[in-house]
Amino acid sequence: MNTLNSRADLVAALQWQLEAGADEAIGPVPVDRTRFPPKAPIPARPAADQPSRSTSKPPLASAQEVHASARALAGQAPDLGALRQSLADFDGCALKSTATNLVFGDGNPQARLMLVGEAPGRDEDRQGLPFVGVSGQLLDVMLGHIGLDRTSVYITNILPWRPPGNRQPTAAEITACLPFTERHIELVAPAILVFLGGTAAKTLLRRAEGITRLRGRWFDYTLAATQTPIPAMATYHPAYLLRQSPQKRAAWRDFLTIRERLAEYH
Ligand code: URA
Repeated sequence: MNTLNSRADLVAALQWQLEAGADEAIGPVPVDRTRFPPKAPIPARPAADQPSRSTSKPPLASAQEVHASARALAGQAPDLGALRQSLADFDGCALKSTATNLVFGDGNPQARLMLVGEAPGRDEDRQGLPFVGVSGQLLDVMLGHIGLDRTSVYITNILPWRPPGNRQPTAAEITACLPFTERHIELVAPAILVFLGGTAAKTLLRRAEGITRLRGRWFDYTLAATQTPIPAMATYHPAYLLRQSPQKRAAWRDFLTIRERLAEYH
């Protein structure tokens, strides 16, 4: 058996875990996974005349079944408090088991402007609030430029739990959680929606184009329950703008367009 003796081995093992996305301590006590678990007792054989109990596991639910159960749960939530609780009770997305906190939403649910991002990062996962890390700080600056702050907007994400290591959400995770995001939008019923980045834009607009093509244009986001269209615009994600400063100019233009449109709803 290989053992981790030297400091270099231990550092390499930690590095390997980081690269695999395990960058959060989620338990108060360290677990030594290099030790063999104690041997489990061998279960007694059932006597020949006893009915044998099935040991087969229940079949895994298909993506469609998970989506349907999410839709039923989300649809029953009469308000945001109930929606938050039904998400907390929902077991159809495995990200829940690696996340520290559920990240539901922040800001003013009465706001005319609702923003939808992608998924919580490390800071959001720790605090249980969307956009509180460096991307959130840039978002606050951009909102400030058009006279808004967290008391005058409402913010949520496509996913309420952090993907480990900030990896891209999978299609299955998005499909599982989508009914909750759709109900979230329905309950907030904003005058205008803004999608931050390609994941939110493509998912909610059901379009295949990338963010470069989608941003800066108005679309109708139609509420399924009432068939009411809400004007929706996609723009670059603040995390992308932090890496690609020259694109801030285009995002700035998008925010000015959003300000103009919002003025119609005073
Ligand atoms: N990125 C997002 O898309 N959402 C957050 O809440 C934080 C970073």
